[in-house]
Amino acid sequence: MTRIIAIANHKGGSAKTTTAVNLAAGLVGKNRRVLLIDLDPQGNASSWLGANSGASSFFVLAESQPIESQIAVSTVEGLSVVPASQRLAGAERALANELAAESVLDRRLAETNLAAWDYVIVDTPPALNLLTINALVAASEVLVPVEAHVLALSGVAQILSTIGLVQSRLNSKLKLTGFLLCRFDARTRHSGEVRETLASKFGDQMLKTVIRENIRLAEAPSFGAPIGVYAPNSPGATDYNALVLEIIAMERKG
Ligand SMILES: Nc1ncnc2c1ncn2[C@@H]1O[C@H](COP(=O)(O)OP(=O)(O)OP(=O)(O)O)[C@@H](O)[C@H]1O
Ligand SMILES: [Mg+2]
Repeated sequence: MTRIIAIANHKGGSAKTTTAVNLAAGLVGKNRRVLLIDLDPQGNASSWLGANSGASSFFVLAESQPIESQIAVSTVEGLSVVPASQRLAGAERALANELAAESVLDRRLAETNLAAWDYVIVDTPPALNLLTINALVAASEVLVPVEAHVLALSGVAQILSTIGLVQSRLNSKLKLTGFLLCRFDARTRHSGEVRETLASKFGDQMLKTVIRENIRLAEAPSFGAPIGVYAPNSPGATDYNALVLEIIAMERKG
């Protein structure tokens, strides 16, 4: 069974793209066949991975193009990417007259040979818009990165309620992979307090892995490489490797 994991949190800068790229590349490193779909018009994941062939998820959503036709090669050998382009910002309008516009991506994925991939990872924009809803409707799971900052906490309730709405109305199979605490800084009391608040409110929904604040993670995009290649001995690489192992361990539980 292909796991389709949406990486979502409408709060900007919550480490969605950092998580999508490093998780996707890390899974490839563990011999999983991975397709990364970039649904964010900012295209950060696409440019990080050098996927700029002219292919775009815009054509998949707005022009009924098959997913296979929009796959670009990336700087990570074995990682296929459906890149984003700025046109994607207009996809919402292009989809306005489409019937069941929330499930276009789901339909396109159903038309592909999903057996070709073990994982489809979908990076989403910082908004609860039609693009993000398409990702949640197409996904079997949603992973929510949360920045270790007190301002991030209010957003968690909102994304949970959106996930609940999608589950009840559009995709009853959607599961929460978990919340991933990111940019955790053990030196500050603040980070620790946010961690405790999340643990007390969402205990078993928190992933065990915590991603620490690490400058190497912020540098990696400029070098066009995932953290495991750019700085394999960094804390960032250690943490994302732990995430990959935690995600893989869930395969057996189904
Ligand atoms: N653990 C970390 N340590 C240091 N910097 C980080 C870490 N995680 C993410 N960053 C940096 O924080 C910024 C936001 O991260 P990222 O782009 O992954 O968030 P995002 O949720 O995808 O943002 P957007 O909502 O704009 O799409 C980036 O500059 C990124 O390099
Ligand atoms: Mg992003």
